Amino acid sequence: AAIPTYSIATIPADGIGPEVVEAGVEVLKALSQKLATFRITFENFDWSSETYKKTGKYIPDGGLEQLKKHDAILFGAVGAPDVPDHISLWGLRLAICQPFQQYANVRPTRIFRGTQSPLRNANIGDLDWVIVRENSEGEYAGQGGRSHRGKAWEVATETSIFSRHGVERIIRFAFETAQKRPRKMLTVVTKSNAQRNGMVMWDEVAHEVAQDFPDVKVDKMLVDAMTVRMVMKPGSLDTIVATNLHADILSDLAAALAGSIGIAPTSNLDPSRENPSMFEPIHGSAFDITGMGISNPVATFWSAAEMLEWIGEADAARQLIEAVEKVCERGVVTADLGGKANTKDVTAAVCEEIEKIA
Ligand code: NAI
Ligand code: MG
Repeated sequence: AAIPTYSIATIPADGIGPEVVEAGVEVLKALSQKLATFRITFENFDWSSETYKKTGKYIPDGGLEQLKKHDAILFGAVGAPDVPDHISLWGLRLAICQPFQQYANVRPTRIFRGTQSPLRNANIGDLDWVIVRENSEGEYAGQGGRSHRGKAWEVATETSIFSRHGVERIIRFAFETAQKRPRKMLTVVTKSNAQRNGMVMWDEVAHEVAQDFPDVKVDKMLVDAMTVRMVMKPGSLDTIVATNLHADILSDLAAALAGSIGIAPTSNLDPSRENPSMFEPIHGSAFDITGMGISNPVATFWSAAEMLEWIGEADAARQLIEAVEKVCERGVVTADLGGKANTKDVTAAVCEEIEKIA
């Protein structure tokens, strides 16, 4: 019988991006060869801060149309020491997320076997979350301006945009995510005591959408109190939904609580499936360790697993995570997890575990 073929666009971009994406492609190839239940092809796009410095553009003309032909995108990280971060972020990552309406940013966190949370009270299984981040508007809508630049009387505004359409669709997506998980729990995070317009609308929309999900247990938290709960009672949380900014911050905290930013994945999903979704590690381009060969590829492996699940290969995704977790258990981990292995050691060990799949 014919097996499905998926075409993946890779955009390694900057810093450690190329190292971890190369590792990700290697394990995906090994997995597809071993399982022989699907084929996977890759097209690489060398869009980066280097291209930007040479051409003034991160994405060449017609670039998005080329991307659109693929089933999914595996992204590394963007950001260079000599390009302002707001230029690189808006030039490449957001320039894909926004036109492709990847409005759901999904960030799972858990403590892998063989790794340790910095929390004294958290063991494996106690911290198993999915953070759903609004990824198309809110605080990162790009609305605002500056007047009297550089003068003592300069003013700047950064306006948050919350549309009922945007809020409703992300909250609905979060309820659906919660409903598919065993505990069926959703925590809606806002700051509706201080931000009395957009955040109050979030609370109202959450209350309305909740009526369609009677089997999901829902509660509300203010974002500041949420940081306390994540640290003090991690086991009381499951699925979490928050605005673009709030969830950005909470998910970095989540990654740290799970042991390292080098593990955590992100999916930028277009749930309508009109456009390809994009999968990437949470971490950035990590200039401090670029080229040293010591970056942790696990965040990219987990991102690759999330990608497999999204395109319809849930079983392969599970096998990949299992292989990664076995490697952590064996103690083959990079320095950020307290180990001595380098990127290539971890990648080779994961490929070995894949080879052992019965
Ligand atoms: P970062 O995530 O690049 O690094 C933070 C710290 O974590 C560094 O000490 C780094 O060495 C370490 N780290 C990150 N990933 C690691 C890995 N896989 N293995 C081991 N250690 C790892 O964040 P930072 O330093 O704030 O940002 C650097 C650049 O990356 C900036 O230009 C920033 O704008 C960009 N960035 C890009 C993102 C993206 O493309 N989605 C996300 C976050 C930051
Ligand atoms: Mg971030």
